[in-house]
Amino acid sequence: MKGHTVLLCHLLLGVQYVMCSDHELYEYLNMTEPANRQLYEFKLHHKKPIGILTTGAGQLVEIRETVTLNSDAFSNQYFINLLTHNNAERIPERNVHAKGGGAYGYFEVTHDVSEYIKSDVFNGIGKKTPIVSRFSPVTPNLGGSDLVREHRGMAVKFFTKEGNLDLVCISFPVFFHKDPIDFPSFVHSRKRNPKTNLMDFSMHWDFVTKRPVTMHAQLWLLSDFGIPNGYRKMNAFAVHTFEVYNKFGKRYFVRFNFRTNQGIENLSTEQAEEIQARDPDYFNRDLYNAIEKKHFPSWTLEMDVLLLEDVTKLDYDPFDITRLWKKGTYKTVPIGCLTLVQNPDNFFKDVELSAYDPGHLVPGIIGGVDDLFRARRFAYRDTQVYRLGVNHNRIEVNNPLYRKVYNRDGVPPVRENMKDAPNYYPNSFNGPVPYVDPNRPKDKFVIYSSNAVDLQPAADFYNKILQCEDQRERLVNNTVTLLLPVSPKLQRRVIRLFSLTDENLGKKVETGLKKALHMHPHPPIIHTLKFIVHDKHAI
Ligand code: HEM
Ligand SMILES: *[C@@H]1O[C@H](CO)[C@@H](O)[C@H](O)[C@H]1NC(C)=O
Ligand SMILES: *[C@@H]1O[C@H](CO)[C@@H](O)[C@H](O)[C@H]1NC(C)=O
Ligand SMILES: *[C@@H]1O[C@H](CO)[C@@H](O)[C@H](O)[C@H]1NC(C)=O
Repeated sequence: MKGHTVLLCHLLLGVQYVMCSDHELYEYLNMTEPANRQLYEFKLHHKKPIGILTTGAGQLVEIRETVTLNSDAFSNQYFINLLTHNNAERIPERNVHAKGGGAYGYFEVTHDVSEYIKSDVFNGIGKKTPIVSRFSPVTPNLGGSDLVREHRGMAVKFFTKEGNLDLVCISFPVFFHKDPIDFPSFVHSRKRNPKTNLMDFSMHWDFVTKRPVTMHAQLWLLSDFGIPNGYRKMNAFAVHTFEVYNKFGKRYFVRFNFRTNQGIENLSTEQAEEIQARDPDYFNRDLYNAIEKKHFPSWTLEMDVLLLEDVTKLDYDPFDITRLWKKGTYKTVPIGCLTLVQNPDNFFKDVELSAYDPGHLVPGIIGGVDDLFRARRFAYRDTQVYRLGVNHNRIEVNNPLYRKVYNRDGVPPVRENMKDAPNYYPNSFNGPVPYVDPNRPKDKFVIYSSNAVDLQPAADFYNKILQCEDQRERLVNNTVTLLLPVSPKLQRRVIRLFSLTDENLGKKVETGLKKALHMHPHPPIIHTLKFIVHDKHAI
């Protein structure tokens, strides 16, 4: 059969192939950006058609089967295969972070951090580990815009000798809430209204005021940090405080931060709107083109470190993911450098099918100790079983370097499915056995989280992290814009929350809103006012 195919190839290629001048190709290549010349580059690397066309089952397709008009289409297996496969080519998009881009690269250790963490991947200056990464806005659906005002994801999977390590990070160093039960409502309030199927800022602001714990991350979102100028120009943070240990079993508490080596850059709302009008894929394009041009983006991975002894002396909760650690209470140590060097050759295979899971950790890293982290340990796995199937870790892009399991079967891919090895544990027949980690701390570290809302970190963001009056004014302007479509009562609730955070900030939002309402009285607001006249109990 193989000889037959090769013979056919020679016969057909000889007939169909038409020479195309390389000069013509090069001329176009020189004129355009990498993303627009992908097909031309493919052609340059494949001087002839890459083979004989087949059906999914490998049946060779004869040229008369490529047209169905006035033919017996139901006897045309190529047609049947093509049409029905197309019907089934969608899988569920991610519940959040649906739209994204990704790339391959490596992580290189640049500093000795053996004092704090024993993980193989972070030890040995010069050691390189292959990685895959994915970048994403949060709320847009698969075809949505990159230019929304919100946090961005940067997920990194390290293929280490000790298993996959996933750092599933966002572009803000704090998260919106700390009780995981708030997550579904938080997400709903930022996505589409169930009746209108439109973004709805009444839902957004209502939730912010009902859960004022979100105020700190909300201010990051409203500030310049809410729209970076592409994924390459932003930092990313694992946010949670991770419990880690060294090879002597001594424990530390760390926050992992990726700092961009391209420099932080942001877009104003106006710039973002202008770009969005012509290129909603601006972030993905920027990443793709940079890598194709060999301007390989890189990030320095560092960790903020607290000793166990320090933790008990602090006057703030270092495990609270809605606040930053106070300056002067911890030290920061660099670990290494992450560099992206290769675009995937197939988006669906390498980006859509990727499954990052904060529960994927390696010896030396016990994990985040807060409740939200523990919820993430099962939420990601659960959603990925739904989205990709129970064997998502056996999909090529997620496949670890080494795996020996008692899991068997299920929706493919199953790969070797552990072949003939025993499938129950314990067994007497030399199936896989667990290892012993003599350094792993014996006692379990447990924390208690306060439910009290502290607006001080949000005030500190506004007054200290934002560096100048321009930045504060842009935050106020962005707030005003997003407040215009909601009812006066909800506007007052928001202003009250901003005032409780910082009196001056509250005043500025109030004044800005008055001015904006005066300039553009917004139709939905007039509507709501009328409504209130009829029913004073309505919001
Ligand atoms: C209770 C809290 C949270 C829950 C239940 C949750 C849930 C989810 C879910 C269901 C996905 C889609 C995963 C997939 O389909 O593969 C996701 C993606 C993601 N989440 Fe979370 N999340 C939470 C908090 C966080 C936090 C605190 C961060 C960052 C510090 C974060 C960062 C991300 C990122 C970056 C992605 C995209 C991963 C990718 O590129 O595939 N999430 N999250
Ligand atoms: C395109 O660029 C290559 C090198 O970058 C150069 O050698 C070639 O002459 C250019 N071709 C045209 C048509 O401009
Ligand atoms: C955002 O960009 C503007 C214009 O380049 C700059 O003035 C501002 O400081 C930047 N903000 C941050 C937080 O980097
Ligand atoms: C904020 O909005 C006001 C009113 O539209 C405008 O005059 C001002 O220039 C804006 N400030 C910044 C920093 O963009």
